[in-house]
Amino acid sequence: MKEKLEGILKKAKAEIENIQTLALLDEVRVKFLGKTGELTQILRGMKDVPAEQRREIGTLANQVRESLEGWLSEKWAMLENAKLLADMEKEKVDITEPSRGVKRGALHPLTRFNNKFMELCVEMGFTVIQTPEIETDYYNFEALNVPKNHPARDMQDSLYVTDTILMRTHTSPAQVHAMETLKPPFKIVCPGRVYRNDNDSSHSPIFNQFEALVIDENIGLKDFMIMVKEMAVRLYGKDVKMRVRPSYFPFTEPSIEIDATCQICHGKGCTLCKGTGFSEFFGGGIVNPAILEMSGIDSTKYSGFAFGPGIDRSVMVTNKIPNIKYLFRNDLRFLKQMR
Ligand code: PHE
Repeated sequence: MKEKLEGILKKAKAEIENIQTLALLDEVRVKFLGKTGELTQILRGMKDVPAEQRREIGTLANQVRESLEGWLSEKWAMLENAKLLADMEKEKVDITEPSRGVKRGALHPLTRFNNKFMELCVEMGFTVIQTPEIETDYYNFEALNVPKNHPARDMQDSLYVTDTILMRTHTSPAQVHAMETLKPPFKIVCPGRVYRNDNDSSHSPIFNQFEALVIDENIGLKDFMIMVKEMAVRLYGKDVKMRVRPSYFPFTEPSIEIDATCQICHGKGCTLCKGTGFSEFFGGGIVNPAILEMSGIDSTKYSGFAFGPGIDRSVMVTNKIPNIKYLFRNDLRFLKQMR
């Protein structure tokens, strides 16, 4: 028994010294110390050792086990360390390699313009709302005083989904949604995409507007003009000039079209403003009392104004974009120039 233990000690020592990988080292551990390992079997057989030798053999067997465990864990640490160093060598980063650079993204010019306008509106106390892009005929036309066969429908060539459902042709349905759901007084603004069956270099079937609506007691044209002037000043600076032309919308009475100093020539006159020094700012007017009544607001108590700028044209002019389609194509060559 004694010789057997000494044999194991010698054999294990030699094997552990020669091993070069962690996996093989573990095999050696199993071979000697595993459940059916050589040393484990001897330790299990202690009960068969004659009583007078048991103490001596037992001590020896435990010493052998301790030695084996010590060598194994020493070797394990050594191999692990070597592996770590080898891995580090392999994964070394070459810091002299020139970087590919980080390409910065940027907001789309329409988004930038929209954000600027929305920030301004929020500062002025408006609540931003969103309403559906697919509308019923009622919200897009009838509730805005544009009954079937009304000639005003011709101005807005529509894309119908079914006979009574269409892609909204303007953001004005937001007015109806607001009047039906909110209790006056309120101020809302609704930015969004609108759709018309139009397609040339300055018209796209998809374009962008926003709708602003203010409803309160004793609201008149002067309130509208004061707010529009303030918006123009904040957007274009305090020297901005404005002029007003009469217009027509079935849902506002009176309706007006507002022009502001041309932002390309700053009033001097250019081809874009056809020498007038003014360009279109937006259309709007005093909410037609019939609209208020249709949506359940008492028109003897409340009044209001609404306006609805298109934003694509302004973005095109200020960025000198010749064709509206560029705004929707997601062409990186174009977008990079717009950063
Ligand atoms: N919805 C109208 C258009 O698309 C603009 C408008 C909005 C007019 C609000 C009056 C009031 O032309």
